[in-house]
Amino acid sequence: MPEVVELKHPLVQHHLSSLRAEDTPPHLFREQIRRLSLLLTYEATAGLPLRTVQVKTPMTTMQAMELDCRLGLIPILRAGLGMSSAAQELIPQAEVWHLGFYRDEETHQPVQYYRKFSESPPDIAFILDPMLATGGSACEGVNEVKKWGVKKISLLCIIAAPEGIEKLRETHPDVSIITCAIDERLNQNAYIIPGLGDAGDRIFNTLE
Ligand code: PRP
Ligand code: URA
Repeated sequence: MPEVVELKHPLVQHHLSSLRAEDTPPHLFREQIRRLSLLLTYEATAGLPLRTVQVKTPMTTMQAMELDCRLGLIPILRAGLGMSSAAQELIPQAEVWHLGFYRDEETHQPVQYYRKFSESPPDIAFILDPMLATGGSACEGVNEVKKWGVKKISLLCIIAAPEGIEKLRETHPDVSIITCAIDERLNQNAYIIPGLGDAGDRIFNTLE
C-alpha cells in the first residue's frame, strides 16, 4: 500500500540539523545530503522483490536471495543529483535516468528542460529530489515516469512541505513518499519553512 513515511531515526534527526544550518558550507552540505540519502534508500528498498539463488559458501551450498527487479533511479536535476550516488552505492545494479525541471520564479510552476529515458522502462522507479515544496516538480516527474510505463514509483526526498505531500497524494495516490522530515509550511515564495533554503544552490555552491 503506498504511503507517506517520515523517518524518525536519531541519525536522521542528527544529520538534518547541520544540513539545515545556514552556516554549513557546501562540502559539508553535500556530505549530509549523501548520508540522509543512504538512510532514505535503505528505507525505500525494504519491500523490493527477491528471488532465490543457489550459493556455494566455503562450507556448503545454500539457498540465498538476490534482488529480482529492474530498478531505476531518477534524480530530478539539479538538486536530485546530490542524492543519486548514495542510492547507487546501496543498489549498484540500479539504472540511473534523468529528468530536468526548474521552477519558474514567478509562477513557481515546473519547467521541463531535460529527459533521458530508455525505450523499455524499469519495473520500479525511485524519483530522487531533496525538496518537495508545492509538489509541482514531483507531480510532473511522476507524470513522465508513468508515461514511460513504470508501474511502481516512490519519491525519496529530504524535506517535504504538507502542501506538496497533499498535492502529490491527490494527483498520484499510488506513489509512496519517503522523507526525512515533514516541515511546517511554504512561505509566499513557495520555499519550505523552516526548510534549508535552496537545495540546488547549496549543493552546487551557486548561491548569489
Ligand atoms: C527545487 C527542488 C525541486 C523543486 C521543488 O528545484 O530541487 O525540484 O524545487 O519545488 P516544487 O515542489 O514547488 O516544484 P529548483 O527549481 O530550485 O531547481 P534546481 O534543482 O536546479 O536548483
Ligand atoms: N526548492 C528548494 O530548493 N527549497 C525550497 O524550500 C523549495 C523549493
